[in-house]
Amino acid sequence: MIEDLTTQRSQIPIDGPRQRLSAGLIIRQKEPVNLETPLDRVDSYLTPSELFYVRSHFPAPTLNTESYRLQVEGAVRNPFSISYRELRDMPSETRVATLECAGNGRVYLVPQVPGAQWELGAVGNAEWMGVPLAALLKRAGMEEDVCEVVLEGADRGSPAEPPVPPGPISYVRSLRRHKATQPEVLIAYQMNGRDLSKDHGYPVRAIVPGHYGMASVKWLTSIRAVKEPFQGYWQTSDYGYWDYADGKPIRRPLGEMKVKSEITRPTVYERLVPNQPYTISGVSWAGEAEIAEVAVSTDGGITWTEAEFVDPAQRHAWRRWKFDWTTPKRPGQYTLMARAQDAEGRAQPEQHDPSYGTYVINHPFPVEVFVEDSGSSRS
Ligand code: MTE
Repeated sequence: MIEDLTTQRSQIPIDGPRQRLSAGLIIRQKEPVNLETPLDRVDSYLTPSELFYVRSHFPAPTLNTESYRLQVEGAVRNPFSISYRELRDMPSETRVATLECAGNGRVYLVPQVPGAQWELGAVGNAEWMGVPLAALLKRAGMEEDVCEVVLEGADRGSPAEPPVPPGPISYVRSLRRHKATQPEVLIAYQMNGRDLSKDHGYPVRAIVPGHYGMASVKWLTSIRAVKEPFQGYWQTSDYGYWDYADGKPIRRPLGEMKVKSEITRPTVYERLVPNQPYTISGVSWAGEAEIAEVAVSTDGGITWTEAEFVDPAQRHAWRRWKFDWTTPKRPGQYTLMARAQDAEGRAQPEQHDPSYGTYVINHPFPVEVFVEDSGSSRS
């Protein structure tokens, strides 16, 4: 029996280039599903939906479009609930936006910290289609003294990070009124021209361009206008950071993404041929401002040279870049780094800021590569 299987297997071409249609995702957690994009193998401007990272705190709920209702409620003059069909019949907008999980790059923190050990790929760039949140809030007639809009998803469970509330909770985040009413914030139902997949929030999710991914609530069922800042778990215990008021530390919710660049190729410990042209590739993005400049260092941060952009500057979308390098003649280990700056002059910090705990990891990550001896055989 075993022999039979071996014979059958040997007839199946394994891993042939023609059989690979896409790169596949990296598992960070099986359930709830948390999957990372192998960025070194996906270099398109729009991340294909099936290769877009998945970050979920609870198992994905099953919602169907027939019974789906979205409540628009709270401090509004005309609360209403809307069906999936009605939402799709409203005027829509399409926008390209980059989502980055606030914990992306956590594996680069030394010493190691708890949480999903994301490398480079808890980030992606997609085209989203939906109804501006502002249009729904306008229809509801938001009261003048509303300060935040609370978005709630249908998923429920017990969070992993202490302090853990006594019973199951849902995934809820609030947005400041100013951001919630900006035209770019969408109540989206399509991603890259197709209906959202279950993992990405089917049938309806929020997309908050410029903010870390945690703001883009999936499986959205309620939009609630409130007059007091919302103090929920996902913006105080988790996805919060330390700020100072009158010299005293206070918790604030994470919001706008910080400027960042990542080298996608080469990858850590890649072996390169000496004295040869090699194109270093990467991506960079920021929060509310465009990416203005990326510089690359091939000597561990001592000297920096400007990289060349592949994409035009576009607010809320990432910008790919490249740097044509001639690998050194001398064999040995070299450390590559990239550093971006946005149009408002904000640059990546040299070190991770501990006020952000295990989030906002936007210092330049070192990529160590080996330039081989020209005589060594490469297999
Ligand atoms: N929305 C709900 N309802 N539940 C979640 O666990 N995770 C958030 C956000 N929206 C989450 C959610 C986080 S932390 C991120 S980074 C993004 O969804 C990830 O979106 P994606 O899985 O489509 O990439």
